[in-house]
Amino acid sequence: MLNILIIGSGGREHALAWKIAQSPNCGKLYAMPGNPGIEEITECVKNISIDDNKAIIDFAKNQQIDLVVIGPEAPLVNGLVDDLTAANIKTFGPTKSAAQIEGSKIFAKNLMKKYNIPTATYEIFDNVNKACGYIKAAGAPIVVKADGLAAGKGVIVAQNVDEAINAVFEVMEQKSFGEAGNKIVVEEFMDGEEVSLLAFTDGKTIVPMIASQDHKRVNDGDEGLNTGGMGAYAPAPIMTEEILKAAEEKILKPIISAMSNEGINYKGCLYAGLMIVNGEPKVVEFNARFGDPETQVVLPLLKSDLIDIMLACVDGTLADQKIEWFNDSAVCVVLASGGYPKSYKKNFEIDGISKAKALDTLIFHAGTNKVDGKILTSGGRVLGVVAKAENIKSAVDKAYKGVEVIHFENMHFRKDIAHRALK
Ligand code: AMP
Ligand code: GLY
Repeated sequence: MLNILIIGSGGREHALAWKIAQSPNCGKLYAMPGNPGIEEITECVKNISIDDNKAIIDFAKNQQIDLVVIGPEAPLVNGLVDDLTAANIKTFGPTKSAAQIEGSKIFAKNLMKKYNIPTATYEIFDNVNKACGYIKAAGAPIVVKADGLAAGKGVIVAQNVDEAINAVFEVMEQKSFGEAGNKIVVEEFMDGEEVSLLAFTDGKTIVPMIASQDHKRVNDGDEGLNTGGMGAYAPAPIMTEEILKAAEEKILKPIISAMSNEGINYKGCLYAGLMIVNGEPKVVEFNARFGDPETQVVLPLLKSDLIDIMLACVDGTLADQKIEWFNDSAVCVVLASGGYPKSYKKNFEIDGISKAKALDTLIFHAGTNKVDGKILTSGGRVLGVVAKAENIKSAVDKAYKGVEVIHFENMHFRKDIAHRALK
């Protein structure tokens, strides 16, 4: 039996806790800080900040934690894996230097260029005038990206040159993403369909999970502002066997060996955000962690024991690990606070969660708070309603039946999750 600590508090971490808790090898399970949904499964540790590496190490030692699993990117970039590993505590996730693949767009793009990994062509700028000159010459559509972490908001897909130039001023001069915008990447616009390919890796072997698709825009028909993700489904039919093979051979295996060549041993989950352009996968971005809400649909399809897989990633034995999937489909509809991703009100009471669960859905908490026994909204993305069924259509129907019985004031959700798979 292994004692496990999960770091994070969103829907992704709830899905990780849900899956890990099912393992016969799971001893005591903790989440830090967790959320009210996770609290129904296991103990949440709220008095330690997830930026406090020293306090986390002390906790892990005191509670005899055998494996730490890190959800969000910030603790990865903050070196939590390095510090836990140095303290002899096994940790699932990449080290600080490996997490640069997400933490610095310039690092990721230069690595892809050096090792011929398909991605949009680009230039790097630390000077506003030079960036604007380049944009005027290149024309639009064109994409402007802040180099550093910007909570998923540092990317501007500009439809015309003025919009791109405004983006350069906002990012580099007005510092709308702080230091993350000291340097920018300006890159070619890729026209295609996006797909998320998460993969387990031990630094030598890389095994893709079932491909999924996120819905980043806030409104139906992929309109409105970009969000953290309004829903997801898996498997994504756009990922044919042929494209998957190309993604493994031209992207996943090369990026792992590229990092290894550069002296970086990447272990954990690698998230490849891909654009399928004329039947060929190209990299939009890499993330150093599981996707949110992709994890909420991928893990319900995983038949194998997640603890075994994670340990194999940490121990470098992934090649010997059998990873099996259910032949089903899963859909996640995110219930958000009206107004998100801009400002929104919170502390509205949520009802109907048990009713939805009785309809055979999984409810993953993302932005909730428990006060006097009541579950209240506390974030932009509040809940993920997940259903599993024999095909996407049935999973969509089942998820929306669950959505129908949940209510809170100003609740907003997309009514067209998985539309690309259904067309
Ligand atoms: P990222 O934060 O890198 O995931 O970018 C956010 C979103 O911007 C992506 O999910 C894409 O929809 C879009 N995007 C980023 N780069 C490009 C590109 N080169 N071409 C087209 N769309 C892009
Ligand atoms: N769903 C997008 C992300 O996790 O980055």
